[in-house]
Amino acid sequence: MIKHFSSYPLLQHNTFGINVKAAHFVEFTSADDVRDIVPRLGEIRHLVIGGGSNLLFMNDFDGVVLHSAIKGIEVLHEDENYVKVRVGSGINWDEFVAYTVEQGWQGLENLSAIPGEVGASAVQNVGAYGVEAGDFIESVETVSLIDGTAHLFTKKQCAFAYRNSIFKQSEKGKNVVTYVVYKLNRTPRYVLTYGNLREQCEAMGGVNAANIRAAVCATRANKLPDPAIIGSAVSFFMNPVVAADKAAQLKELYPSIPTYPTVTGVKLSVGWMIEQCGWKQRSNSTVGVYPKQALVVVNLGGATGEDIMQYAAMIQKSVAEKFGVSIFPEVNVIE
Ligand code: EPU
Repeated sequence: MIKHFSSYPLLQHNTFGINVKAAHFVEFTSADDVRDIVPRLGEIRHLVIGGGSNLLFMNDFDGVVLHSAIKGIEVLHEDENYVKVRVGSGINWDEFVAYTVEQGWQGLENLSAIPGEVGASAVQNVGAYGVEAGDFIESVETVSLIDGTAHLFTKKQCAFAYRNSIFKQSEKGKNVVTYVVYKLNRTPRYVLTYGNLREQCEAMGGVNAANIRAAVCATRANKLPDPAIIGSAVSFFMNPVVAADKAAQLKELYPSIPTYPTVTGVKLSVGWMIEQCGWKQRSNSTVGVYPKQALVVVNLGGATGEDIMQYAAMIQKSVAEKFGVSIFPEVNVIE
């Protein structure tokens, strides 16, 4: 079923709480709906959104905002080791994670309490507490916004990397994700490398998916703002990855800088660097950083996209001046 609204307020569709409107808002519940919509878009500007947790609107959107309301969790295959599930792109991400934990399907518990929807989990390759969605994605089904044809991207074709996928690179803006196929474990392989996750679980009676989920939810509630209360896109910036010699220089100057070796270089903690630049002690009337995690830029009330981008630019400049490191937003800025 296709629903069409004109002059549609986007306040409830972006977690930053920016008060803008879309000229048209179209919601669909099936891949066939998307195939019907595509030829009608013609030259009209369009944007696909999920839960709006990674978007920053600079202005009213003068085209069509497309939103998936495709639901359903279908088991495609199950044996003693794995389950493959095909999940509608419009399902709330955390409701899906909660369901997997209830079913005894293991893998996504570390990704609990992340705002957004299933479709975006594949585009963004959401990650937290040592796990990335792409680790468990088998394939992604899409409908092309160019010619309305259906496509299946294998895990390899998705080219998942830190907060990145083909849908943010060569396929950017060209597809509507309709379903994501997740391959989850029936025999657990828990990831407990982050902080004191293991100790938190043991204090709750032992390591299992339900306790990992509870520990992650508690950690996030403690460190990150609830977008229903304080407008934000949670992580505003990505953690920068620098060459090993640059990281070694910084470690000499700032022995407490958190560093994480990766295959492409050394990942630095942008939250730590922003805090060191003194941003936790500063804010203007509408924008600041979250006092418990400085990589979260928050809307203190009534901020526009322009206010937030100006503030973010000051943060970027100060980090570049102090550390000689360029940092970039993770959020998708919509002009
Ligand atoms: N830190 C500070 N000050 C701060 C923030 C962080 O000193 O204001 C330090 C922490 O003490 C820690 C280090 O920096 O030593 C890393 O902080 P944290 O563990 O909070 O992780 P992060 O690298 O800042 C990333 C993800 C988060 C995810 C966490 C946990 C990105 C951009 N963000 O943050 O993802 O929850 O790791 O895995 O990679 C999100 O995407 O919305 C998100 C919250």
